[in-house]
Amino acid sequence: MLKTRFTDLTGCKVPIQQAAIGGLARPQLATAVSEAGGLGMVYAGSFDPNQMTEVFEDMRRRTSGVFGANFLIPEAFVSDLNEIHEQVETASKLVKVVEFFYRQPDPSLIDLVHKGGALASWQVGSNEEAVAAAEAGCDMIVAQGVEAGGHVRGKVSLLTLLSQVLDSVKVPVLAAGGIGSGRALAAVLAAGASGVRVGTRFIAATEAGAHPEYVKALIAGERRTLLLQRPSQRAGPTRPIEFFASA
Ligand SMILES: Cc1cc2nc3c(=O)[nH]c(=O)nc-3n(C[C@H](O)[C@H](O)[C@H](O)COP(=O)(O)O)c2cc1C
Repeated sequence: MLKTRFTDLTGCKVPIQQAAIGGLARPQLATAVSEAGGLGMVYAGSFDPNQMTEVFEDMRRRTSGVFGANFLIPEAFVSDLNEIHEQVETASKLVKVVEFFYRQPDPSLIDLVHKGGALASWQVGSNEEAVAAAEAGCDMIVAQGVEAGGHVRGKVSLLTLLSQVLDSVKVPVLAAGGIGSGRALAAVLAAGASGVRVGTRFIAATEAGAHPEYVKALIAGERRTLLLQRPSQRAGPTRPIEFFASA
């Protein structure tokens, strides 16, 4: 058992947060991670308050571990933040951590989370954004390096960003981007992070329900063709997409 400021804050047994990885961050995956002592995250943006209540109450019956709700909120998805207030209020009463990604940190959302009784977190891609998240009242921050998969806001390498953010904020900081092994976890802990946020590695977990050919290709790691920076039409740039010979 590894004790850090993140485990003290959240009650997790290990300093590992499973990243929201879109629809793959489903309750089955988050429950398994919570049961194993990490922070399991569910992508909550597509649930209405009733569905959310059903999902999180069911998870509570299945695990005594720690889990959270993720809101991916680029302006292309959510033009007016009032649109998600009811969802955020509901989630905050049902989970330990409510987190946001892809927008300037917003104090009114953080207030809603705290009023509901949850901890608030923001995943950031720059030091300026980390400072804004801390000033907005976040209890913890995720620093996302450019190595990350999926929606990438980080523009510099993880260790560079992590070092800047640790110098700028007092709340616990998790490191995200390219982490998929115990060695990488140890490395960022040594660099001052309070834990890691892992996304791509969890796609290979059975509970994520990814297509078996995708999982096979991911594990084989046979990169043959690289398509650079195909932007998501709705949410801005994403990680360069790699095609696999076996996929
Ligand atoms: C397939 C995929 C989908 C993602 N979807 C989301 C999302 O819905 N919300 C979010 O906050 N982050 C999302 N991310 C980014 C993760 O939060 C995290 O920053 C990233 O996975 C860390 O890098 P890694 O994949 O190398 O571990 C996604 C990542 C991947 C790989």
